[in-house]
Amino acid sequence: MVSSALPYANGYMHMGHLVEYIQTDIWARFQKQRGHLCTFVCAADAHGTPIMIKARQENISPEELVTRVAAEQHEDLKAFGVAFDNFHTTHSEENRQLTCRMFEALRDAGHIYTKTIEQAFDEQEKMFLPDRFVKGTCPRCRTEDQYGDACENCGATYTPNDLIDPVSVLSETKPVWKESEHYFFRLGAFEQRLRDWMKSAELHQNITSKLEEWFEAGLQDWDISRDAPYFGFKIPGTEDKYFYVWLDAPVGYLASFLHYCNQHEELDFDEYWMPGHDTEAYHFIGKDIVYFHTLFWPAVLEGSGFRTPTSVFAHGFLTVNGKKMSKSRGTFIKARTFANNLDPSCLRYYYAAKLGPGMDDIDLNFDDFVARVNSDLVGKLVNIASRCAGFISKGFAGELAVELDDPDLFAEFAAASDEIAAHFERREFSKAIRTVMSLADKANRYIDDKKPWVMVKNADQAADVQAVCTQGLNMFRALMVYLMPVIPALAEKSRELFGEQAWTWSSASTPLLGQKISRFKPLLSRVESEQVEKMIEQSRAPETAPVTVPDSGEITIDDFTKVDLRVARIEKAEPVEGADKLLQLTLDLGGESRIVFAGIKAAYSTEELEGRLVVAVANLKPRKMRFGTSQGMVLAAGPGGEDIFLLSADSGAKPGMRIK
Ligand code: MSP
Ligand code: ZN
Repeated sequence: MVSSALPYANGYMHMGHLVEYIQTDIWARFQKQRGHLCTFVCAADAHGTPIMIKARQENISPEELVTRVAAEQHEDLKAFGVAFDNFHTTHSEENRQLTCRMFEALRDAGHIYTKTIEQAFDEQEKMFLPDRFVKGTCPRCRTEDQYGDACENCGATYTPNDLIDPVSVLSETKPVWKESEHYFFRLGAFEQRLRDWMKSAELHQNITSKLEEWFEAGLQDWDISRDAPYFGFKIPGTEDKYFYVWLDAPVGYLASFLHYCNQHEELDFDEYWMPGHDTEAYHFIGKDIVYFHTLFWPAVLEGSGFRTPTSVFAHGFLTVNGKKMSKSRGTFIKARTFANNLDPSCLRYYYAAKLGPGMDDIDLNFDDFVARVNSDLVGKLVNIASRCAGFISKGFAGELAVELDDPDLFAEFAAASDEIAAHFERREFSKAIRTVMSLADKANRYIDDKKPWVMVKNADQAADVQAVCTQGLNMFRALMVYLMPVIPALAEKSRELFGEQAWTWSSASTPLLGQKISRFKPLLSRVESEQVEKMIEQSRAPETAPVTVPDSGEITIDDFTKVDLRVARIEKAEPVEGADKLLQLTLDLGGESRIVFAGIKAAYSTEELEGRLVVAVANLKPRKMRFGTSQGMVLAAGPGGEDIFLLSADSGAKPGMRIK
């Protein structure tokens, strides 16, 4: 059984996700091609607070949201040739039953205990807040607007309780701290068993060194429950407690597999997931979720009487043109947008050419992408076939010769089989590609030497053209068999060219002779950089990314024009009791009056302000503050304190005028 991580069902597939799904798909296809019984499963990761909130915002049920998003994600993955045997959902009956069964087994074995903890609570929304739903000022470096788990500026990690001036992301009110009983899993008790598992799983060095660090720091028990309201599975025996999404998410691998077993008699769930069988189970994941998969997950399986994964393989993150993906740069590219502009086979090839077994990040550099696809796939590989097939069709009624021109050369191609297979097996995809491409160079050199296009013109050599082109086509065929896991769509077209029903790994070792081939159709056309440019243009914010602020912190001109700037006249300026920096301003926005709190008390006296024309943000969402609600903002510049300078509107301007 092979799995990819389960995509959260509240977003869309992007180029980063594709690294993982393509990597896993290549490996699963390779295993199948080698004759193994291999089942590739995945599912939508349906539960958790972000999905619940997103559904609320869209005014639909979380079930509806998950069903819609999961179907879109699955379609997108299919377009890239990712062929799951089963794509299920964690919000399924199979998953509920397996999760409850595991929980009960853990509880009965004494691995679960309850403890009362304090957590941020939003009184307006009436719900406990996950760490990322609380924002405030970093207690270490004082950077404002940081999430409740870590500071993006200085890297400090903390709990929401440590933030200065915390606010709920949902209601912008100040959270209170409230007690609630939670369920904990005794992870600490599994250290030795995890160390043993780590050895037997032969985890990559990148992962074992992470694990050593975590063991060194000491394993913390794990909070596996969340309070209502929550979208997830209710904990058996409770009224308002739910399993934390990360408890039931990996169980989703099993649930998807079970769902598939129930429809396929040849597969027995217990043979895979109860201890003592010689089946294998592998998880492919990204480097950000190693903790969940190499500590929590094997410990939960072990503690509840299931078998542990044979191994876990983690890959690095994708950068585009050397940088983090960014909506403003147009490099936060949806899978869909890519497929609309370029052939997905090219991406599969490019990722394979860059992937290794470790956790290093991989870069999608578009200049390199265009050059590589054109030179390797089009210029070297497909070229072998297009240089030879025409002569066979025209001169020999489509029939291959009964003998090769150079059997020793073909034997070299056949002999590479074990080496290439070993590279795929060890997830050394880039090495597999390198070996295949050096053979492709050899094939092209052979054709260059023989020059069939010259031979056809010499009466005494014309007969040999068939043997030479049969040689060329068979070398092409062997390479396509080797690349079948990587570029299945192109391999299939090639197989059809040869009129064969199926290819297995060993098809590469025996040449195809004396058979009729079909007419050659172009397999792939060159990639033009204009296609890439168009795709990047279509990916630029805001068309494809209407709501959120881009990760880079940059905004586009369109983002900026959303700010409704107006001329405002300060009618009244008053001190605020209990606040030493604030003034309460009453603004006239052309007939409309607004209250705004501004931190400018040290810089201006109330008399200086009254009657002044300033610039106000008129469409700022009202914000509740301790002293009242602020209904906008006045613009000022300067480092703060006494050095704040209000932007003034021209004396001829009228309150309410729009500033463009
Ligand atoms: N739902 C969890 C996984 C649960 S598995 C029981 C999750 N979902 S995700 O949608 O955020 O990510 C799915 C997979 O894609 C993860 O393995 C993640 O590491 C990978 N990637 C997401 N963004 C990525 C990049 N930018 N680059 C490479 N892989 C990335 O995590
Ligand atoms: Zn900080």
